[in-house]
Amino acid sequence: MSINNRVMQRARELGLVVPAFNVPYLPMVEPVVRALVDQDAFGFIATARLEWIKFQARSLAAVYHEYARYRNPAHVSLHLDHVPVIDEDQQRVDYRPLFEEALSLGYPSIMVDGSRLDLEENIRITREVADMAHQAGAVAEAELGAVLGHEAGPLPDYATLFASGKGFTAVDDASRFVNESGCDWLSVAVGNVHGAIADGLRDQKKVAAHLQLDHLAQLAEATGIPLVLHGGSGVVQEDVRAGIKRGIAKINIGTEIRQAYEEGLREGGVQRGQETCYTRTCWVLDEYLGLHGTASQLTQ
Ligand code: 13P
Repeated sequence: MSINNRVMQRARELGLVVPAFNVPYLPMVEPVVRALVDQDAFGFIATARLEWIKFQARSLAAVYHEYARYRNPAHVSLHLDHVPVIDEDQQRVDYRPLFEEALSLGYPSIMVDGSRLDLEENIRITREVADMAHQAGAVAEAELGAVLGHEAGPLPDYATLFASGKGFTAVDDASRFVNESGCDWLSVAVGNVHGAIADGLRDQKKVAAHLQLDHLAQLAEATGIPLVLHGGSGVVQEDVRAGIKRGIAKINIGTEIRQAYEEGLREGGVQRGQETCYTRTCWVLDEYLGLHGTASQLTQ
């Protein structure tokens, strides 16, 4: 079984979570790994397509090679985050070559994001990508529902969005989706939103998001597989901790450590950025998620 799937299953059994840290800049890999080791925690280094197109991660191969320099299987593994079928600018993506490249490099898990497709097409393409992953001994994450925030332009008012439940993953669709697509983990929308990445918005402080916990528990029950929380930066801590007890086995953290890195970079260059990124990653692991000292529980 893929190492990444093993730790996800363990996290789900133990009520723990695997943090996946997005690295839009290659020098962020070193301080994130250092924080995981120093906190005696376990997590993933993650890269999404938009991070090499709109930021400076360069390519999925570049992230793979940077990760390989700091490889430490007791504390860290690698994950390919969002490769959308239709991207945040509404462009169709030639996704197959990206997955082929990632799997041949040795990424143990990959994410196909068909959330901008209708249900039937999302199932069909997720099935195709899950098959590719499984043939390579890897696993596939998929997304159902709308985790907003990556698109251009400001988000609708958060309180209105949350109260309306608009875009939340539907429970009936989720159980059908998981059965028919063969995905291993499912990214769900239950009040979580991504930090903005569009020009002019990416430095903004993220809204304090809430999670609809009853809805989340129903999704966990209906799907029976590890659920993933995207948009992990800035979710109200009480809700994050409760969400982990209700089936969230992986939480994606991007904005929190990106903004810390960029702040340090502006103040004093790459080295300063690495230190501010390290400090923030330690805070996420220890204070926000309470994962200090949990590495061996996830990897044994
Ligand atoms: P945030 O940037 O809001 O933490 O979201 C990250 C994410 O979900 C990447 O997939």
